[in-house]
Amino acid sequence: NDKLKILVTGGAGFIGSHLVDLLLSQNHQVVVLDNFSTGKLDNLPSADRGLSIVNGDIRYSDTVEQAATGCDAIVHLAAVASVQASVEDPCGTHQVNLVGTLNLLEVAKKQGIKRFVYASSAAVYGDTNELPVSEATQLNPLTPYAADKLAGEYYIDFYRRQYHLKPVIFRFFNIFGPRQDPSSPYSGVISIFLQRAQANQPITVFGDGEQTRDFVYVAELVRLLEQAVTTTEPAAMPMNVGNGKQTSLNQLLAAIQDFSSHPLDIRYSNPRSGDIRYSCADNQRVREQMGFHNQYPIADGLKRTWEWM
Ligand code: NAD
Ligand code: UD1
Repeated sequence: NDKLKILVTGGAGFIGSHLVDLLLSQNHQVVVLDNFSTGKLDNLPSADRGLSIVNGDIRYSDTVEQAATGCDAIVHLAAVASVQASVEDPCGTHQVNLVGTLNLLEVAKKQGIKRFVYASSAAVYGDTNELPVSEATQLNPLTPYAADKLAGEYYIDFYRRQYHLKPVIFRFFNIFGPRQDPSSPYSGVISIFLQRAQANQPITVFGDGEQTRDFVYVAELVRLLEQAVTTTEPAAMPMNVGNGKQTSLNQLLAAIQDFSSHPLDIRYSNPRSGDIRYSCADNQRVREQMGFHNQYPIADGLKRTWEWM
C-alpha cells in the first residue's frame, strides 16, 4: 500500500479539486500546479499537510519542472476546458492545451516519472451519427480544443513508445457536479442551468434543446482517475468515460424544473458553431479494463449539485 507523491495539474479546478480531496483522503502527497485562471483556492483544503500548491503556469517549462520535482506520478488536468474559448482564441488555448502538455511530457521524461494520466475528451469524435461512440469510431476533431486534445494523445503515445512512459488516456464525456463554475458563459451547461434556475434568471438554450450529452457525475470520474494513477500496470489505450446514456438539454431542463419553485424562463437561440449534436459513449473498454461501473443516476447528481449551488 504505497503512498505516492502525485502532481495534479489543474488541481484547483472543478475535476482536479475533487481528485485532490480523494488522493489526500488516501494519504497520498499531492502537489497542485494551477494558475488559477478558472480554478479557485477555495476549492482546495486550507490546511492539509499532504498538500502543496504551486501557483504557476504549465506554459513555462521551468515552472513545470520545479513543481514535478520528487513526484512519482502526474495527473494532467490543466487546460482551457471550454470548447468555445478555443474557437475564439485558437493560439492562446493551443499554448496551454498542447504546448503545456508537451512541457509536462518533457519533464516526465527528464525526471523519469512514468505514470501519466491525461484528460482527453469526447470532443475528439466530433459530430457522428454512429452512436454510441466506441474508441474505434472514426476520429473527427472539429474544433481547436478537440485538435489539441487529440494531438496530446498522439504525443503521449510517442513518449510511451520512445521513453517507456506509462500513460493512461481517458476521453471524458460531459462531467458535472459541485464546484463546476457557472460564472462564465463557457462553463458546463448543467452548472449554468442550475445557477440560472436558482437565481430566477433566463436560461439560454443554444439550438432546439434536443442535442444530447452523456453526463458523468464528478465523484465517479475521480475514483477512476485515482485508480489509474495508483494502479501498477495501467491500460494504455484511450478509454471513453461516459455512462452510455444520452440526456437532451430539454430533458435536463424538465428535471431542473422539478426542483425549482418557480417556472423556468427558457429562451431558445441559435446553435453554437462547432457544437456537437448527439453524444453518447460506448464504455465497454473502461468497464473491462478498469471495472468502471457508474453507480450514480444523473438525477441524484443533479440534486446534489443543486444543493451545493
Ligand atoms: P476547470 O477549468 O475547472 O479546470 C482546469 C484547471 O486548469 C483550472 O483550475 C485552471 O485554473 C487550470 N489551468 C488552466 N490553464 C492553466 C495553465 N496555463 N497553467 C496552469 N493551470 C491552468 O475545468 P475541468 O472541467 O475541471 O477540466 C479538467 C480537465 O478535464 C481539462 O483538461 C478539460 O479539458 C478536461 N475535460 C473536462 C470535461 C468536462 O466535462 N468538464 C470533459 C472532457 C475533458
Ligand atoms: C464539454 C466540456 C469540454 C469537454 C466536452 C466533452 C465544459 C465547459 N466543456 O463540452 O471540456 O471536452 O464536454 O464532451 O465542461 N448550452 C446551452 N446553453 C448554455 C450553455 C451550453 O444551450 O448556457 C449547450 C451547448 O451549446 C451544448 C451543450 O449545452 O450544446 C453542452 O455544452 P457545454 O456544457 O459547454 O459542453 P460541451 O460543449 O459538450
